[in-house]
Amino acid sequence: MPTALKPNTAALLRQSHSNMPMGVADSYRYWGEDNTVFVKSSEGCTITDADDQRYVDFRLAYGPIILGYRDKRVDEQVIAAITERGTMSGFSTDLDSEVVELVKLMCPNIEKMRFANSGTEAVLGAVRTARGFTGRNKIVVVEGGFHGLYDEMMWKSDVDNWDATSGQAPEVASFGAGIPEASREHLETVPLNSFEAIDEVFTRVGDDIAAIVIEPIMGNCGSISATPEYMLKLRELCTERGALLIMDEVKTGFRVAAGGAQELYGMHADLTTYAKAMGNGYPVAAFGGRAEVMDVIGFGKRGVTHGGTYTANMIALSAAKATLTLLNETNAYTTINRTGAAFQQALSRVFTKHGITHRFAGPDSMFGIHFGDIVPSNYRDWKQTDSALYTEFAMNLIKHGVMLEPDSREPWFICEAHKDVDIDWLEGVADRSMAEALAAR
Ligand SMILES: Cc1ncc(COP(=O)(O)O)c(C=O)c1O
Repeated sequence: MPTALKPNTAALLRQSHSNMPMGVADSYRYWGEDNTVFVKSSEGCTITDADDQRYVDFRLAYGPIILGYRDKRVDEQVIAAITERGTMSGFSTDLDSEVVELVKLMCPNIEKMRFANSGTEAVLGAVRTARGFTGRNKIVVVEGGFHGLYDEMMWKSDVDNWDATSGQAPEVASFGAGIPEASREHLETVPLNSFEAIDEVFTRVGDDIAAIVIEPIMGNCGSISATPEYMLKLRELCTERGALLIMDEVKTGFRVAAGGAQELYGMHADLTTYAKAMGNGYPVAAFGGRAEVMDVIGFGKRGVTHGGTYTANMIALSAAKATLTLLNETNAYTTINRTGAAFQQALSRVFTKHGITHRFAGPDSMFGIHFGDIVPSNYRDWKQTDSALYTEFAMNLIKHGVMLEPDSREPWFICEAHKDVDIDWLEGVADRSMAEALAAR
């Protein structure tokens, strides 16, 4: 592990401490006094830190970069749009429908859509719409899923502090202070892939369930995925019981396939949330789905309110238009999937050489690595993997120029620009990083 910050980074962190809590603009960017990263520039699949160390980046800003950093094809469209038309007017533009039509072309689950500025906002909009449509309160979420930082979704199954031998479910704990206990009143949490648990919730409170909110491929839990049978079960339960199925595709949307996870599973949600890859790093998000459901958005006592000053601004929409057009009309997904598969093969060779039992989870464009002899089927199973070894390995990778989140719950993200990475180089760095991690044990 890096033992001390390099000089420019250390100076920036010192300065930041007097300006921002924890010295960062987002708490998750604080990696401690010895490891917090300040980025100076980015290009393709690389970022360069304040002390000029360059990294091949598999973190990709938690997933939005799908083509590459500073992709000229997108940037030039955005610059042209805002130069000519301004960044926003607080009125509708022709781009609104143009982008929705592009999304509809790629995602047949979308009949009508609304825009948002972040994944959190998209989830909030979808949940409110589901409640408005059904007239019900309860939301069912899956352990290990993440749906953004608003109070109701800031309750997690605390697997980190869970005793797997206790025979009890993990405690559901808040993300921290400031979250009222009342915000969890309508939240039900189930382990992924358990038919028994979902049946139990529907038996107990089924008539008040507005929606199940699920990442079918958990982008915040090592790409641990729902089985097709489980997704079918959820689809059938929702249809039978009058609840809505909301797929949170903030990470998987426009990444794992043109039509997201729903294309891979061959099924449709009632509502879907998108963000991240939709704009190749520009802040754009959306939620949408069945027209009948979305049409509850409107004014008046029975209408669901949705909007916001920055909604569908020209920066966001021109970026989405350019990104989605490229994803739709080029062979970017083929390149991304081929590259991701090749990286996994190289990493697998390294793990095997060092005698590490390992499993990959999720699709090639967003894969998780688990040290252990099972692909975890839910968050509780993840606890059985050797995540400490993963973190040690990841910290060594970072030291040697490969950036990633040093937590096996965050997958490796692949972008089109990764196609130029020298696989032998990556394999060499991984080999050295694993050797050092094992030596340190
Ligand atoms: C599945 C999922 N939903 C929602 C969010 C929240 O998105 P944002 O950080 O843009 O608010 C995230 C963020 O990582 C996510 O992965």
